[in-house]
Amino acid sequence: MAKNFIWGPDGALPRIEEHTKRKLDVLKNYLDVYFDTVVRNPAQDRLNITLVDGFSGGGAYQDGPETRAGSPLVLLNAVQQAAIRLNVGRDKPLEINAKFIFVDDEPEHVAALRRELLSRGYAADDPQITILEGTFAEHLPAIIQQINVTQRKGRSIFFLDQFGYSDVPMSSIQAIFRSLDRAEVVLNFAIDSLLNYLQEASADLQLYRQFGIDARFIADWRQRKDENMGRAITQRALMAHIQANSGAKFFTPFMLWSRTDNRWMMLAHLSQHQAARDKMLGVHWQEQNSFTHVGSGGLFTLGYDTRLIESCDSLFNFSAIDRSALSRELVNALPSEVHRIMNGGELEVSRLLSEIGNRTAGTNDDIFQVLSELAQARELEVLSAKGKPKRAGTQIAVNDRLIMPSQPTLFFPSRW
Ligand SMILES: C[S@@+](CC[C@H](N)C(=O)[O-])C[C@H]1O[C@@H](n2cnc3c(N)ncnc32)[C@H](O)[C@@H]1O
Repeated sequence: MAKNFIWGPDGALPRIEEHTKRKLDVLKNYLDVYFDTVVRNPAQDRLNITLVDGFSGGGAYQDGPETRAGSPLVLLNAVQQAAIRLNVGRDKPLEINAKFIFVDDEPEHVAALRRELLSRGYAADDPQITILEGTFAEHLPAIIQQINVTQRKGRSIFFLDQFGYSDVPMSSIQAIFRSLDRAEVVLNFAIDSLLNYLQEASADLQLYRQFGIDARFIADWRQRKDENMGRAITQRALMAHIQANSGAKFFTPFMLWSRTDNRWMMLAHLSQHQAARDKMLGVHWQEQNSFTHVGSGGLFTLGYDTRLIESCDSLFNFSAIDRSALSRELVNALPSEVHRIMNGGELEVSRLLSEIGNRTAGTNDDIFQVLSELAQARELEVLSAKGKPKRAGTQIAVNDRLIMPSQPTLFFPSRW
């Protein structure tokens, strides 16, 4: 266990690293956006949710002279603050009925977490909080069962902050998405450690096979290792495999550089709903340079993408400059994509978002903006949900439909 994640019996807290702060900031910001989004209806008076921290650690860190909240406290605080924020100006009070499940397989860490919670005023027998000692994988079946009993739609967030890459089996992620419709997973994955330790013999091990790694993958990686872009290409191939094996429809991988360990970590968001993915992407834009996305940002494929080599444009930062580059790229790339999916008929905007969702760093608003520009340039026509033509330049909505333009254009042949 790395020393920055050791909570000992003496009560001393581990020193927090920069990349851990950024990871926890993303978690906090995402939870804020999450609650603001799911509780939009002023008539709603209750939200049932379970927050699972599968690798909870001891609850707090030392940050210079201050104490800083670890992930269990980030989850607890986010719910408490959301309940205050969302009740402002409400006629009907909203209750967030949140259950928290914290798991850690290290008894010292579980003891440290209990101490931390007690010191912050949580009762040892708080009915909302369950603390489990043992591995996440062994506790998962009972956790899923418990969520299913209390929530019809299985609304839950799993924060799976493993240290390496071997403690969250793909079968666990599949079980979550198979059993819980409204589950979302934020997975930490030490992608570079995996690549660095890959040996020829790894192809025979289930640990690697579950990520789609076979003898061919390893041979390709060895061949590319010295090449400038080899690592980025292999990382993306691995992401494509993880997504395919996860059972999640939407997979948004973002990369975080660990200065202490000199390697890339991946923080992936997995969900079954495009809107959830869009919100997480919004958080990455908000956080700007904390995270890097491997690829250009416009439209890309998760697996092998030759443009990575051609453009050497491998690292995409969430900054203002990249946002304008992204728009330019989307203006060029979207028409042919729309044309392909449309296949001569109509295309619902929601379907377009689903189809390209995993392949762009653009949020829904970025995509709407580009569609609107294309409509103004008469490259597309937009119909409202009721089938009425919308004036070019009016805002695009998720339930609008796109049709080919009546006049042939640069990108589109005429629909007549
Ligand atoms: C990276 S630390 C977690 C840090 C914590 N999430 C935070 O942000 O404050 C990983 C934790 O997972 C625990 N752990 C390691 N393997 C585990 C497993 N298979 N199941 C559950 N916990 C595990 C370790 O004891 C350690 O406390």
